[in-house]
Amino acid sequence: MFISFEGTEGVGKSTLIKRVHEYFLEKNKEVILTREPGGTALAEKVRNLLLQVDDTEVMCPDTELLLIYAARSQHLSKVILPALRDGKVVLSDRFTDASFAYQVKGRGLSKSKLEILNQTFVERMPDITLWLDAPIEVGMSRARARGQLDRFEKEKLSFFSKVREGYAELHRQQPQRIYKVDATRSEQEVFKQVLEIFESKL
Ligand code: TMP
Repeated sequence: MFISFEGTEGVGKSTLIKRVHEYFLEKNKEVILTREPGGTALAEKVRNLLLQVDDTEVMCPDTELLLIYAARSQHLSKVILPALRDGKVVLSDRFTDASFAYQVKGRGLSKSKLEILNQTFVERMPDITLWLDAPIEVGMSRARARGQLDRFEKEKLSFFSKVREGYAELHRQQPQRIYKVDATRSEQEVFKQVLEIFESKL
């Protein structure tokens, strides 16, 4: 079972993932918690490149996309696929849907570039994707309250509106995999909805 968690900044992904992780541990399931970009030592170095703010040189959108896929390829080969082969539950904080939302919708890259990368390098998609949705303003004020902003968090609200619309589009196209979770509700209510999704799907 491969479950990914998606959403714009500050929607409460980390809190939910920890909760879901505990839920599987309590059920005595072998479960790993991982994230993108990142998830291996090398992929975490690429994550740092992607998130760090460097005013000396602007990162081109294509470069950003390729770095994300370099990290993803390493993460899939070294962590996700071996864990799934061992029958473990894999919980990933983001996966390919983020690339559609951020790089295609947010940055405006062509969908065909992403499709080529997915077809070539992504042999396994999540079984369930939980998309935590909340108005951009709500999430961004939470993200700002966390402290220094990374390269993505520094983007304008209009960028995140496009990202949110990207997730909405994916949800409309693939409702059998991508579930929308109302992240404006309490942690308790969000977790309850997620459990209902698991029960209906498992
Ligand atoms: P995080 O803050 O949720 O850990 O994610 C790091 C940032 O990376 C977040 O702002 C979204 C961005 N990102 C992309 O732009 N494309 C991707 O494919 C992934 C996985 C993340």
